[in-house]
Amino acid sequence: MKKKLTVLSGAGMSQESGLKTFRDMGGLWEQYDVTEVASPEAWERDPALVLRFYNQRRKQLFEVEPNAGHLGIARLEQWFDVDVVTQNVDNLHERAGSSRVLHLHGELIKARSTIDPVLVYELDHWALDLGDLCEKGSQLRPHIVWFGEAVTEIPKAVRIVEQADILVVIGTSLAVYPAAGLVNYVQKGTPIFVIDPGKPAVHQPNVFYVEEKAGKGVELLLEELKKLM
Ligand code: APR
Repeated sequence: MKKKLTVLSGAGMSQESGLKTFRDMGGLWEQYDVTEVASPEAWERDPALVLRFYNQRRKQLFEVEPNAGHLGIARLEQWFDVDVVTQNVDNLHERAGSSRVLHLHGELIKARSTIDPVLVYELDHWALDLGDLCEKGSQLRPHIVWFGEAVTEIPKAVRIVEQADILVVIGTSLAVYPAAGLVNYVQKGTPIFVIDPGKPAVHQPNVFYVEEKAGKGVELLLEELKKLM
């Protein structure tokens, strides 16, 4: 029986693929006011600006590749029963080969009806514009959890973390809740590996810091994990 390994990833996971993080130097929230592009109020006020913000990020996503960190996480499935719980809206974990990925904050390559949230469509091109309608005739919006909206996948994520034999936290500043609170749901004694050059604080026992970028960090993690197999 393979041990259950849960990965909680954030924007730093995709930094080496060329996608900006949010709170690092030069991060997205340095360039944009989050309340102007990533909230229901922003959507009401200026949907074209919101669509432009996500179109730019989606266009770039179509041009980048998973990095060694994503590929290393996918490889862990050879030895562990892996669940990836990600705050990222990119699909790089999936494209690297991870088979179980839970997106807490939505998915950039998907659009959702504004009249019926059950209607979600995969986009095969980067542009989502005003006038792109769902089958019920309402405007499509990015399938993203905006600030102030419910993170509906949290209960499922809590159950995954509670069952983890090993937790790997990679590329997240743990600044945004409820996602950041997931680290508190590990069972007592569960080892927590934190891969991040920025060393975010994790107030739990059994924390092992790997102060490296994702690509190198996952490689070192694999060496450590082989001792736990
Ligand atoms: N490898 C690993 N970690 C990295 C790398 C890298 N190459 N580059 C940066 N980091 C780390 C930073 O040190 C930081 O701890 O990644 C983290 C990025 O933090 P944030 O920019 O805050 O991203 P994240 O934690 O994912 O933000 C959470 O905030 O704006 C919302 O919805 C958005 O999902 C996002 C959430």
